[in-house]
Amino acid sequence: MNNINQDYIEKYIGELLPRPIPFIQELEEYAQKHNVPIVQPEVAQLLTLILKIQKSKNILEVGTAIGYSAIVFSKAMGEDSHILTIERDPEMVSLAKENIKKSGLEDKIEVLEGQAEDIFPKIDGAFDCIFLDAAKGHYMDFISKSLKLLKKDGLLISDNVLFRGMVATDALVKRRKITIVKRMRKYLEYISNHPQLHTSIIPIGDGVALSIKKE
Ligand SMILES: C[S@@+](CC[C@H](N)C(=O)[O-])C[C@H]1O[C@@H](n2cnc3c(N)ncnc32)[C@H](O)[C@@H]1O
Repeated sequence: MNNINQDYIEKYIGELLPRPIPFIQELEEYAQKHNVPIVQPEVAQLLTLILKIQKSKNILEVGTAIGYSAIVFSKAMGEDSHILTIERDPEMVSLAKENIKKSGLEDKIEVLEGQAEDIFPKIDGAFDCIFLDAAKGHYMDFISKSLKLLKKDGLLISDNVLFRGMVATDALVKRRKITIVKRMRKYLEYISNHPQLHTSIIPIGDGVALSIKKE
């Protein structure tokens, strides 16, 4: 129970999801066995649907881990698409590269190794979508550059924004998580009220915020 949805709802929705292709399933099993936090399958299903509706062709991702979300998004976007993804943990970087190669997506997904705080300022371009899925306490560090890098009508996706329900109520906040929770609340207030963004916070998975850049 992650304090966001009832277990029976998650279980029911999970059972309705299409069976993942064998390699995607292998990645999910690896992540579970080795405690690697990856985007939940029902969240991946929602996000790939939105990427298809939006006709996204290029994504900037912060937080690659084993490459699961990048591979799932890349397959959803199809030909002529590109993902730039940032990861600071060298072990994750080599696992991600291996998995991307096994998926035959080396020409579509580029992994940049390092702290996103250092790499972000050096990135140029115009992205259809930016996916923030790294250290939860640091999303504010990426928002102003993200706004510059997003195209008009581009999509900003922020994952884990309800953080096991703690962000929504003090009653659930663990003492050692107070700083992260305070930072995430500040971030959600910022993206909910920013004049350039139209934001919706969705209680699915660990909480996902979807924001469209209006101008
Ligand atoms: C939740 S996991 C990413 C999961 C991945 N997006 C997926 O769904 O398959 C977060 C990853 O972000 C990385 N990370 C956290 N903070 C970071 C930072 N400041 N810069 C770069 N990587 C970071 C962690 O090492 C971790 O592998």
